[in-house]
Amino acid sequence: MTGNITFTMIKPDAVSAGNSGAIIKMIEEAGFEIQAMKKTQLSKEVAGKFYAVHRERPFYGDLCEYMSSGPIIAIILTRENAVESFRKLIGATDPSKADPGTIRQLFATSIEANAIHGSDSDQNAAIESAFFFSELERY
Ligand code: RTP
Ligand code: MG
Repeated sequence: MTGNITFTMIKPDAVSAGNSGAIIKMIEEAGFEIQAMKKTQLSKEVAGKFYAVHRERPFYGDLCEYMSSGPIIAIILTRENAVESFRKLIGATDPSKADPGTIRQLFATSIEANAIHGSDSDQNAAIESAFFFSELERY
């Protein structure tokens, strides 16, 4: 059984480049429905908490710096088989390895500034949605 909820963030590089609208259009055209959405800027501490699973990785410090460098747009999405189909839509972490037509292939500028986040499991989709949105904010 796969779930129908995933969580995404349009990352600072894509927001500051003015690509949010184009990215949201691709997401909707792929059949995802927006359930909750907000623009906010993370502190370094909050970015660090969100990506705490990577705290031992060499790129963790840079990642927290980058994710707090400008506004992001946090979105809860629904669709059948949401997590897996959304990861397909965004493409590989490294945009040079992302399939043609994926969001990262089109909009990412580096392995770090890679335009968009997508939850990697149903469990993390629930945890990440709750990290950004209260019950009341969810449709
Ligand atoms: P995300 O969690 O943001 O959806 O990305 P992902 O699953 O494709 O990749 P993950 O391994 O979870 O890495 C999280 C984010 O850290 C940055 N990163 N930088 N410099 C590097 O080698 C490196 N590797 C990863 C990227 O912003 C990546 O999306
Ligand atoms: Mg990840």
